[in-house]
Amino acid sequence: MEKTYKILTYGCQMNVHESEKIAGLLEREGYTCTENDFADVVVLNTCCVRESAETRILGNLGILKKTKEQHPEMKIIVCGCMTQADGAAERLQKRCPFLYAILGTHNLDKIPEILSENERHTHIEVSQTYAVKEDIPIARTSGINAWVNIMYGCNNFCTYCIVPYVRGRERSREKKRVIADVKALVEQGYKQITLLGQNVNSYGHDLIDKNSDFASLLRDLSEIDGKFRIKFMTSHPKDIQRETILALSSGEKLSHFLHVPAQAGSDRILKLMNRGYTAREYLNKVDMIRTIIPDAGLSGDIMVGFPTETEEDFADTLRLVQNARYDNLYTFIYSRRNGTPAAAMEGQVPISDKKHRIRELIATQAIVAEKQAAQAVGKQFEILCSEYRDGKLIGETACGKAVVFDGKADLVGKFFPVRIIKHKNSKLYGVIQ
Ligand code: SAH
Ligand code: SF4
Ligand code: F3S
Repeated sequence: MEKTYKILTYGCQMNVHESEKIAGLLEREGYTCTENDFADVVVLNTCCVRESAETRILGNLGILKKTKEQHPEMKIIVCGCMTQADGAAERLQKRCPFLYAILGTHNLDKIPEILSENERHTHIEVSQTYAVKEDIPIARTSGINAWVNIMYGCNNFCTYCIVPYVRGRERSREKKRVIADVKALVEQGYKQITLLGQNVNSYGHDLIDKNSDFASLLRDLSEIDGKFRIKFMTSHPKDIQRETILALSSGEKLSHFLHVPAQAGSDRILKLMNRGYTAREYLNKVDMIRTIIPDAGLSGDIMVGFPTETEEDFADTLRLVQNARYDNLYTFIYSRRNGTPAAAMEGQVPISDKKHRIRELIATQAIVAEKQAAQAVGKQFEILCSEYRDGKLIGETACGKAVVFDGKADLVGKFFPVRIIKHKNSKLYGVIQ
């Protein structure tokens, strides 16, 4: 009988891509993907960046426990960031003794071996050694888009963030490997390649070859033959170099879109967060980007309710959002993560204040995004068409703006000009030229 698998993914693009690797490994072993409640193997690829993610995962484990009572042969594996936190794997095993295995973020490649062992106890393999592993098969699921890791881990230790603890220190993949991956993906017909790293601007700092910095990687990638686009995320503002922005402006295949999280607009809070820049320095970087690349698209992350944040600090954040003129903003309520310095800080902000601040932040950004969208009306852009949904096509400009337009499904994966004819709030509508 056919063996089936199912993967439930939580968290960021890094995890979405890692789930493609888990799928690749399972498919190599002869498993096929299923949407049913029951599968021979169910993998939860977890996130712990905020409490809400952990709550959802624990809720889902409760549901899976019931399914397993009806299908005792089902093997449930939990992997990803949540298991890497101090003592988390042991706590999880106690709470969920029905788990088949608990793995970390660095030993996903062990899944086939562990499945073949068929033991009755829970396998716990949470590694604290973070070697870069190559040559894992990847079952890609994102249509014309493909993810490529350029680095793993993070060295920044922002005081609120759990990621450096669960993903280890920065490790860059060798430049020649990244280039070979992108070349192969373009040859296979992928049209948009997104380079992944927690802080792509520090790519290569840990490599012996000192010519492997992010700007030179971008330049080399844009030399690859074929019609395609390169995107990347995330850019830590403190490490954005003029050299990188110059490389972006001159490489025809490089997207003009940057995701540059500010987190806050108050210098006092930014210092407590250990972000390494002031609000003025952040906005100067944004100005530098827009001077070199006038059509640059910009998105950001902002967090409200960091410990000790006052109404005055929050007003600074709103000002920064207005000045940065983001096309798109991801907004978060600060969530206390055990083991991080901010969790132990005095002055935790009451949830009622956090909620009114996030509402105000979202309302402020809605006005900013609408103004940004209005500026695009009447202009023509080269679109990469990525999706046909509900009778409409959806595509993206080189500066990262999403546009909805009419056309046939066979245009997906193609580049062509579209003129923007109207906007509704921040959403853009266009016609093919
Ligand atoms: N490496 C990326 C961010 C990865 S986490 C960067 O530094 O830009 C994605 C976002 O989650 C962060 O930008 C931050 O806004 C948010 N985040 C991280 N830790 C958080 C916490 N404890 N509570 C709420 N939001 C958090
Ligand atoms: Fe977390 Fe900061 Fe690293 Fe981003 S740069 S992953 S927010 S510690
Ligand atoms: Fe990503 Fe969540 Fe881990 S945001 S790096 S999956 S903690």
